[in-house]
Amino acid sequence: MKNIFIKAVSVAMIACLGFGIASCGKKEQGLTINEGKLVMATNAFFPPYEYYDGDTIVGIDAEIAGEVASRLNLELEIQDVEFDSIIAGVQSGKYDIGCAGMTVTEDRLLSVNFTTPYATGIQSIIVAEGSEISDIDTLIDGDYVIGVQQGTTGDIYMTDEVGDDRIDRYNKGADAILALQNGNIDAVVIDNQPAQAFVAANDGLVILDTPYAVEDYAMAVSKDNEALLSEINRVLAEMEADGTIDAIIEKYIPSEG
Ligand code: ARG
Repeated sequence: MKNIFIKAVSVAMIACLGFGIASCGKKEQGLTINEGKLVMATNAFFPPYEYYDGDTIVGIDAEIAGEVASRLNLELEIQDVEFDSIIAGVQSGKYDIGCAGMTVTEDRLLSVNFTTPYATGIQSIIVAEGSEISDIDTLIDGDYVIGVQQGTTGDIYMTDEVGDDRIDRYNKGADAILALQNGNIDAVVIDNQPAQAFVAANDGLVILDTPYAVEDYAMAVSKDNEALLSEINRVLAEMEADGTIDAIIEKYIPSEG
């Protein structure tokens, strides 16, 4: 018995030498950064995917991630950070997942993995009522200043179309909306569901009925944690099959779920 134990220890030690000190100095790698926890980074000003209800962050992403965590026997911890810092934080191992109505893009796939998509987004254009901007072409061809949330696909696409000079970047989508209401900018390009929520909550704004781009939303996971990626995909498939995802989306977007 003792011999087997010693043998096992020495095999482990040889393995340690083989894999290098760094990987052996750390405690046994669990599924997540902090054992028993799933740390999610989001930017919580993006209704109905994530927003504050009092002190609590609620919304489609919060609930889907909460259910994923509970099916993996983990406790969900949500951190509200700048949208622009989420990918880097996932990449560097600060957060287990980025879950923020985040669009899967080729570029982001160079830095992180994405789970199976669980929702769809469409980039929309918001203007002030009575604006002469009637569609994406007038917006792009004119001399208009476009507000976006920093680092989002709206930012990336619009910068690509019109160049830096005509783009005003805000930390929160809601700040871009405020600037539009104040007449500081001519339009806001943002995902359709937050666009609808912002327009409903603020007077004098309309959404043009020419959607710009259709996108998949998924959770970002570190490329170093394939195990977590496949576990999340496994429970997402379950949640898709048993109607949980539809029910959560239906709760927040009654017409579409
Ligand atoms: N879907 C867009 C993107 O991935 C915007 C997401 C913004 N999300 C947020 N929680 N503020 O770039």
